[in-house]
Amino acid sequence: MSRSPSASRVALVTGGIGGIGSEVCLQLALTGRTVIAVDLATRSDRIEAFREHIAASKGAIRFEPCDVSDFKACGSLIEHIEHNIGHVDILVNAAGITRDTSLRKMDPQHWHELMRVNLDGVFNTCRHVVEGMTARGFGRIVNLSSVNGQTGQFGQTNYSAAKAGVHGFSMALARETARKGVTVNTVSPGYCDTPMVAAVPQEIRQQIISDIPVGRLGTPADIARAVVFLTADDAGYITGANLPVNGGYFMSF
Ligand SMILES: NC(=O)c1ccc[n+]([C@@H]2O[C@H](COP(=O)([O-])OP(=O)(O)OC[C@H]3O[C@@H](n4cnc5c(N)ncnc54)[C@H](O)[C@@H]3O)[C@@H](O)[C@H]2O)c1
Repeated sequence: MSRSPSASRVALVTGGIGGIGSEVCLQLALTGRTVIAVDLATRSDRIEAFREHIAASKGAIRFEPCDVSDFKACGSLIEHIEHNIGHVDILVNAAGITRDTSLRKMDPQHWHELMRVNLDGVFNTCRHVVEGMTARGFGRIVNLSSVNGQTGQFGQTNYSAAKAGVHGFSMALARETARKGVTVNTVSPGYCDTPMVAAVPQEIRQQIISDIPVGRLGTPADIARAVVFLTADDAGYITGANLPVNGGYFMSF
């Protein structure tokens, strides 16, 4: 049986050893892609858990350290990958941080640190892959936004602004690349059972779960399924879209 073209693709996943990112890496690898998980070199605490999580991938995933908030470092990373592994066909931006506090108490550091990762990080990686993707006539970019970018959230003016910005960015880039075989979409998770949400106080977490129509937190696998769908070779007619994966927590059209 011949391998589908999707199977030979190279995928780069930022935040690749995080709760959602590591499951995205695994699902992409299980569909035959060569996967590069990109994350901070300093997350040695997570790397072991990540290695265990991806054991089923049989070596199709490798780790490359990079701080996505550093434009030059992202350029060097892409160059290194293209030279040693292959052209980046699929880019998934899942690196993200929170710096929650009400605006009254938010200082510029809370704001800028978050913007540098959650929004600049998307620019920094997309900027370095987009030319190659359009020149080759194929690319799939999926940027992780959030339900809180759609609805706003108390204590998250910085996060909600960045995540709404990620979707605006993605729609604009989708228009720029649509005729060149490159799609750009966002996936907006609701609340998922990951370290990011585990950091929310227990009583607030219980309140959130009772507000989710499906009656549970999302899982990283729920989100990865949407990412894998949007990165398929035959998903070429979906671009500039946002795919909400939130258990019905926020419905719109
Ligand atoms: N977990 C949720 O409920 C939820 C909901 C909505 C949106 N999201 C979004 O999904 C994405 C993944 O979230 P998660 O739950 O897996 O979070 P996570 O904290 O488990 O993973 C995020 C990863 O990003 C990495 N990272 C942080 N700064 C970085 C940098 N400068 N350079 C490279 N990597 C960096 C972290 O080391 C971490 O591994 C994020 O963009 C997040 O905002 C998550």
